[in-house]
Amino acid sequence: MKFIIAKHLEITGSTNEDARSGVHGEVFVADAQTAGRGRLNHSWHSAPKRNVIMSAVLSVADLDFELAATFPLVAGLSVAEAVLGIAGVGAPVAVKWPNDVMWNGKKLAGILCQRHGDLVVCGIGVNVLERDFPEEIKNRATSLALEGVECSVEAVQSRILDVLGDNYEEWRRNGFGAVLQRLRRYDFLRGKYISVYQDDGGAHPTSGLCAGIKEDGTLDVGGVSVAAGEAHVDFVVGMRKGSKDET
Ligand code: BTN
Repeated sequence: MKFIIAKHLEITGSTNEDARSGVHGEVFVADAQTAGRGRLNHSWHSAPKRNVIMSAVLSVADLDFELAATFPLVAGLSVAEAVLGIAGVGAPVAVKWPNDVMWNGKKLAGILCQRHGDLVVCGIGVNVLERDFPEEIKNRATSLALEGVECSVEAVQSRILDVLGDNYEEWRRNGFGAVLQRLRRYDFLRGKYISVYQDDGGAHPTSGLCAGIKEDGTLDVGGVSVAAGEAHVDFVVGMRKGSKDET
């Protein structure tokens, strides 16, 4: 499927809100947001005109609830594949379940999928030209420019929409299995000791050795299937957390 840019605003609150008025195949783009939203009630920082800020509207009508629930992972794979296509084979791109896109262990892109009836609003933020992150995320965030990849915001945006459109069709046609095979190549958490938290409070995480993403899109953490949450790496086998080789 091909997406259509329905609206491109200089500034808006959140493109995920704008996209609530959209129909299947429409994309809402902005140069800046005043109330950019992240997963689990986080906010999303993005300086004007430096990064991809867009929300695509996709139909999940007629899909099983279980299949529809795997869409956020399809979105994460799509952004990772698009970035790899731009940066070239061998670029250290990974997907941190459910759909953070990482570069060498730092966050390059975030995705917020919100379901509204038969539609999913898929909000995507990719750090492209940003070189100066706020102090509190400086050590955890990166951009294509900081990693030496020269590319315009528009080029990244259109590459992602091409890949997302193709992957969405494949996912609808063949189910999550085919997509999962490719997603596993990018799995950032598999083989690491992790804790998955349900909220910012940090209480009662599920902790253990991560065995990767399962057929239903949940994460295997020490034999327990986790359906949602935010994962933190506690320990990488053979490497102390915080050592200079840590990924
Ligand atoms: C996250 O990593 O927590 C998800 C971040 C999602 C950010 C994008 S930017 C475009 C769209 N509009 C929003 O308000 N959020 C998403």
